[in-house]
Amino acid sequence: MTVKQIEKIKTPQLIQQIEFTLRPLEFFERCAQNYGDIFFTTIFSDLKTLVVSHPQDLQELFDPASKILAAPGGANEILRPQVGENSLILQDGKRHLRQRKLMMPPLHGKRMVDYGQQTCDITQQAMQRLKPGKTFIARHVCEGITMKIILKIVFGINEGLRFEKLENLMTAWLDLTNSPLSASVLMLPSLRKDLGPWSPWGKYLRLRLQIDDLLMAQIWERRQVQSNHIDILSLLMEAKYENGEGMSDVELRDNLLTLLIAGHETTATAIAWALYWIHQQPQVYKKLLHELRSLKTPEALEISQLPYLTAVCHETLRIYPIVATTFPRITLRSVNLRGYQVASGTYLIPCIHLTHRREDLYPQPEKFQPERFINRKYSPYEFWPFGNGSRQCLGQVFALFEMKLILATIVLNYQLKLEEKAPLKAVRRGFVIGPQGGVKMSVSAQ
Ligand code: HEM
Repeated sequence: MTVKQIEKIKTPQLIQQIEFTLRPLEFFERCAQNYGDIFFTTIFSDLKTLVVSHPQDLQELFDPASKILAAPGGANEILRPQVGENSLILQDGKRHLRQRKLMMPPLHGKRMVDYGQQTCDITQQAMQRLKPGKTFIARHVCEGITMKIILKIVFGINEGLRFEKLENLMTAWLDLTNSPLSASVLMLPSLRKDLGPWSPWGKYLRLRLQIDDLLMAQIWERRQVQSNHIDILSLLMEAKYENGEGMSDVELRDNLLTLLIAGHETTATAIAWALYWIHQQPQVYKKLLHELRSLKTPEALEISQLPYLTAVCHETLRIYPIVATTFPRITLRSVNLRGYQVASGTYLIPCIHLTHRREDLYPQPEKFQPERFINRKYSPYEFWPFGNGSRQCLGQVFALFEMKLILATIVLNYQLKLEEKAPLKAVRRGFVIGPQGGVKMSVSAQ
């Protein structure tokens, strides 16, 4: 077989880095137009980074039997100040696998159903606070909902002083890195200088310390009192590694923060996008409402199995994946991808966005068409908003369940109006890709 040469994109490194930071989707689309399905960039450093997105390449690389890829925790160092050194995201190899195994069950299976009613109640409370006719930003409302879900269902904190304190501190802490400019404090380690409590990094560290104290207090309290709580913290505390030991307090603390960082903004952004698409296209809204109303008693499990609601959520995550790429990977041996030879030790970032925009898989890919997912079954190398392989999203079942219940509660009980005339652009917000401006909407009087 003739070996084809993988092209290296010709734009100067600094320009690549600026484009990737400010307009990541346009950057990847332009590269794919000019260089095809596989190309080298230098977006992270002088080290060449391979971008892959062809389903055949993904299948070859992510096939669990072939063991071609490693997902090095060191490549996610940039997240250390947010998630802490014991976070799952920073581990690799055996330690990573071991921690994943322990954290997986609480976020899967029948347990999800137990969280259903709480999710709907939290959504109702947030929606009831909106004033009829007054514009609100959907992403802010969704962030409020997913934050409460994390506090109650994941951290197991009931409303009260600790709940309020943590909610305020975590909102303020996450807000510090909301704009591209402030996010640069996180992105660029050289700007991380503690110049006192008023400096951006100083503020960031001090808020983090206060959050740590409150989380530790919650963990210690739980260790003292045996109870029958069903929140994720309790389940993580009960879980044991093969040697019979459980997670230490700092491991628990860092992984609670990991679930917040990985699960709060991502899910809120996905729901805000879904609300945008549902209300932008009257036929989608009508079909969805009809399906939801067909349920006699809308129970969490039944809602989560509705085919059209599922298709709406999938199409939302397809058209603008919440994160454009997976975490970085590295090849453990050389591999041939459709005639392109990739050396062992190659650093790569698989690009979800480019796979989801393939005309051969998704005709008219820029159009929002939930029916695609009714008419065809996509493989995990064609539709993969939660990544793939050893670092695939740990919260994907939880996230989809949350998305469906929150959307169903809103669509069934509230009449919303989109207050946006022009089509919305997708923009980077820290690590996620969200709708520009957050989606302006209003609610009618009941
Ligand atoms: C719509 C919402 C979400 C999207 C689109 C999403 C997407 C992703 C993606 C693409 C990855 C990287 C996968 C890879 O590198 O192959 C990831 C990792 C991860 N996600 Fe999610 N996620 C979402 C919600 C959640 C939620 C709700 C949680 C938990 C409560 C969560 C927990 C995690 C964790 C812990 C990881 C790291 C896994 C590891 O390092 O082994 N995510 N997510």
